[in-house]
Amino acid sequence: MRILSIVGARPQFVKAAVICGAIARDSGTPPIEHRLLHTGQHYDDRLSDVFFHQLRMPQPAYNLEVGSGKHGQQSGEMIRRIEPVLESEEPDWVLLYGDTNSTLAGAIAAAKLGKLRIAHLEAGLRSFNRSMPEEINRVVADHLSHLLLCPTETAMRNLKREGLRDRAVLTGDVMFDAVLGESEAAEAMNSPVARAWREADFALATVHRQENTDQPERLWAIMKALEEIARTICPVLLPLHPRTRKFLGDWKPHHVTISDPLSYHEMLVLEHRARLILTDSGGVQKEAYFAKTPCITLRDETEWVETLENGCNVVVGAHPERILEAARNTAHAGPWKPLYGDGNAAGHVLAALRSHIMLCP
Ligand code: UD1
Repeated sequence: MRILSIVGARPQFVKAAVICGAIARDSGTPPIEHRLLHTGQHYDDRLSDVFFHQLRMPQPAYNLEVGSGKHGQQSGEMIRRIEPVLESEEPDWVLLYGDTNSTLAGAIAAAKLGKLRIAHLEAGLRSFNRSMPEEINRVVADHLSHLLLCPTETAMRNLKREGLRDRAVLTGDVMFDAVLGESEAAEAMNSPVARAWREADFALATVHRQENTDQPERLWAIMKALEEIARTICPVLLPLHPRTRKFLGDWKPHHVTISDPLSYHEMLVLEHRARLILTDSGGVQKEAYFAKTPCITLRDETEWVETLENGCNVVVGAHPERILEAARNTAHAGPWKPLYGDGNAAGHVLAALRSHIMLCP
């Protein structure tokens, strides 16, 4: 069975690494031949190479080096460059991950060829906010895919509502597998940032979503709240995504420490040590949940609604007072329940790919 995984952005490397690891250990029949296609959406060392290296991933068979651009231009260029690869590879499955422009482009390129099976990993997530590029990407990918690999029961219900129940399989979340598999290596992490943030009394913050970075009033409201947390509650570490750095210009924060983007192992270990996490990332919300660290979500909604139970995660938008209030009230968060599968989501993904091979086209 030949699988071509299409990836391009930071969170997709983590998910694909779990699939690569499961395939390397796999002894089922038919045997699996797996290749990676990297669109080049993320190209910086700290957003791309470090993940391949740290997660021991094979080098991509293809790197399309598409780079950054406006949504239409970037996605269009990806579609144009993915199409000939699919035509020459003709895999049994095109495997898509998550909700980035690389996911969208892979879905469209594969569906338009009309003869390829498409599977979507992390299917069924919905924020119900169509102004998010990710929501558009995931809706299109789900509707064009033949097999929908769902991390949660909520995702299964969302797909049922859209008439896609027949194509959906509950596998659990490969990001949970990743944390289980990498936590030892993360604990052993001895980089300068991991050494500098040993004490548990700090907050870890990440902000990179377009809805926050591209709206100055939201971005500065969040930064103001982070400064206030750092001044009155505990130190704050803010690793900066390049998009956020661009919008913040030469801002010199008071009390907040900014850094380059962190590697996967650095993030895992700091998420575990932190007293609280503030983020607009879907992946970091879940990693906070796995680490049992209270999370404050800097968005107006979340796809990961299960994390909201028992106050483990609270959605506060970009309102400084609400952010501060949430940061002062994390003591009652929990208990945390096992919601994201049995730690072998990747095994269930491979089983589903094998058993659904008879699916059209
Ligand atoms: C993308 C995903 C988002 C995901 C995020 C993880 C889409 C629509 N969004 O957002 O869902 O959570 O990845 O990080 O696909 N840049 C660099 N170096 C790089 C890549 C990007 O400097 O290696 C800068 C460029 O200025 C670029 C900006 O970051 O314009 C944004 O990059 P882009 O690929 O558009 O998406 P992300 O914001 O990273």
